[in-house]
Amino acid sequence: MHVRLRNPDREVTVDGPLTVADLLDHLDVLPHTVLVLHDGELVTGDRELPEDAEVEIRPVISGGANAAPRCADCSGPAVLEEPRHRAAWCAAHLPDHVERQIRKAIDHAPGMAQGERMFSYADRLLVTVSGGKDSLALWDALLAMGYRIDGLYVGLGIGGYSARSQQACEQFAADRDARLHVVDLAEEYGYAIPGGSAATGRATCGVCGLSKRYAFNKVAVDHGYDVVLTGHNLDDEAAILLGNVLRWQDQFLARQHPVLPASGANQVRKVKPLYRLSERETAAYCVVRGIDYVVEECPLVAGNTGHELKAALDTLEAASPGIKAQFLFGFLDRHADRFAEYASDGEAPALNDCDACGMPTTGSRCAFCRQRELILQSLPLAGAAMAGTADSVYA
Ligand code: FES
Ligand code: ZN
Ligand code: ZN
Repeated sequence: MHVRLRNPDREVTVDGPLTVADLLDHLDVLPHTVLVLHDGELVTGDRELPEDAEVEIRPVISGGANAAPRCADCSGPAVLEEPRHRAAWCAAHLPDHVERQIRKAIDHAPGMAQGERMFSYADRLLVTVSGGKDSLALWDALLAMGYRIDGLYVGLGIGGYSARSQQACEQFAADRDARLHVVDLAEEYGYAIPGGSAATGRATCGVCGLSKRYAFNKVAVDHGYDVVLTGHNLDDEAAILLGNVLRWQDQFLARQHPVLPASGANQVRKVKPLYRLSERETAAYCVVRGIDYVVEECPLVAGNTGHELKAALDTLEAASPGIKAQFLFGFLDRHADRFAEYASDGEAPALNDCDACGMPTTGSRCAFCRQRELILQSLPLAGAAMAGTADSVYA
């Protein structure tokens, strides 16, 4: 069906038939903030719209173009407007909006069978925290929603940035009496990211990503967590998708999903419950919830193409609010049909235990252990830091 959203104007095509309620849900528009017209006539939420329907969605929250926006839940003065939702929220109701979006991700992530969820209240959850807005917002929201969730901070050894990040995570955990695992790469594995990158000649983000993924999985396995959660938001995921599409990286597209099941022993399911929320929403959530996150970005990401992809998408979003979510969610809706064949699961290579650390690998030694050996061979005094793999626990 052809749908015209008004003020700001946007036109989209949506597969039908669908009820009005399902259409609004699909477009992330709050029902009580709009009127829906089918062929020029008002229709209610239960009306089924045919495949060839001409639909108009008209906002009803008035007050004039220059009036201060009002909260969609209580009509009080709003603190955050979200053109994508054609709505705004006050400080008291913004957390409700964030929790609703997280709830929708947990209960209805695309591709999951009816009744299947990202995780349940019975699962033990481990959220990887960087000290930044997204991961701390996620931890805070899931604690507020009553989940059993602990945190994991991986110390990357990036000077003052890492020190401030760790401090923010420790303060967050201490304030909420929550449990935070801390793995310091230099202490546990003998290298920090800047030295590891210099020793191997590999890009810092590559060395960092492999190290973090390994530590996330290892801590989760060692401590019996069921699910690892990361704070990837809508902007992150849309930028990653654009990068994967621009280079047509089918394997990466096949693995880009908010739920990655564990495909063997010593692996843990990985999920991204913030994929429906923008960076502005998570940052605003932190502000209204009083979360003291680290605002600065990692100093080593300069030149990372991810920033340019985000900037390109922001330009498109400014001209056409909602296009970023449409791009990402449209991909996820088509994911199972069109990209499953590229997932390694089809012809999954057998997994072995790494002969150095016991974690899963397709060869005899895992990529993390091979990278670590390469680094330690090149780093002076590296041998002194070979001891111990048990992580410390903060609280
Ligand atoms: Fe990984 Fe900066 S956080 S390189
Ligand atoms: Zn309100
Ligand atoms: Zn290994």
